[in-house]
Amino acid sequence: MDLARQLFEAQFVDVRPVSGVCANLTVYSAFTDPGDTMMALAIPNGGHISTGRKEFNGTAGLVHGLNVEYFAFDRDNWNIDVDKTKEKIKKLISENKRPKLVMFGGSLFLFPHPVRELSDFLKSENIFVCYDAAHVAGLIAGKQFQKPLSEGADAMTLSTHKTLFGPQGGAVISWEKYSEKIKAAAFPGTASNHHLQNVAGKAIAFAEFLEFGERYASQVIANARALADALSEEGVDVLASNLGFTKSHQVAIDVTKYGDGGTLEKELERANIIVNRQLIPGDVKAGRHYMHPGGLRVGTSEVTRLGMGPSEMKEIARLMARVIMKKSSTTEVREDVIELRRAFQKVQYAFETALPAYKYVKVRS
Ligand SMILES: Cc1ncc(COP(=O)(O)O)c(C=O)c1O
Repeated sequence: MDLARQLFEAQFVDVRPVSGVCANLTVYSAFTDPGDTMMALAIPNGGHISTGRKEFNGTAGLVHGLNVEYFAFDRDNWNIDVDKTKEKIKKLISENKRPKLVMFGGSLFLFPHPVRELSDFLKSENIFVCYDAAHVAGLIAGKQFQKPLSEGADAMTLSTHKTLFGPQGGAVISWEKYSEKIKAAAFPGTASNHHLQNVAGKAIAFAEFLEFGERYASQVIANARALADALSEEGVDVLASNLGFTKSHQVAIDVTKYGDGGTLEKELERANIIVNRQLIPGDVKAGRHYMHPGGLRVGTSEVTRLGMGPSEMKEIARLMARVIMKKSSTTEVREDVIELRRAFQKVQYAFETALPAYKYVKVRS
């Protein structure tokens, strides 16, 4: 907890939630009641199923009985539309559906969200402001993305295994004044056993992030930009080109000219390239389903941890274009992927031995 407080410059941290979903559930349980309304991103606009509606088996609706309303989204700017969201919230209030909680953040998360722009308004309406940093926690810890808590968020949830390179797990970060409610919701509310081996792993990840996080996070983002540029040069339709593609670890691709995201995800996997199929704006209207959506989502956090840089991003873009556009044999591409990967076997941004890590941790005698 000390290490996480230091890393996120926060007053209060609960490291017990066993995943990002459980961290979100902890916040729902602490600050809302079943039947309340919350606002989050719709899934085709980048939202995650843990903030989803009951009809889609989303955690917020299914497990905590929340009614989920969606942020107004500006597809040209790939972001939450501040003015239209304010209007929508005022309308909900006039219909007696005042949101209790607003959840920023998402799964497809290319650009920082307007937390600063909306927080004062949300607080004046008595709405709890949370930020789901499941994906971008490492970029925030590495000081290369927005700082949700100082921009006005009341709490931030995260996974400890995405850009924050720790073990599978979660955490809630907040202010002292909310600590008792969060603690009670974390235990006994949403976990009775907080998986101690993971808490130890989280401590190591936090210490490594204090030591290497800024360098790592800035390389992750530089690599995402390099990958987006290179894919675009290969002729792949990279989304958000009007905005410089990305300011995070992610790159989003529209593959509708070449097939669908579900099929191409599997093809790329056959070539040893791991990406996610991704619903993208316009999919639902076009009748595309989450199993076979129009997009792919690619992240640079893992390849960066192995020490890859912009020149390898060009190589990866060429390999991906061979599968997506040129329909080359995945067996042949896989051989080239294995060859590229051969030179990157060692995990970087990590302590070489235990000794330098101990300076971060007071071990009881
Ligand atoms: C925005 C968002 N929140 C929460 C989660 C859930 O995280 P976890 O896998 O740690 O349960 C994810 C997972 O991808 C996510 O994208």
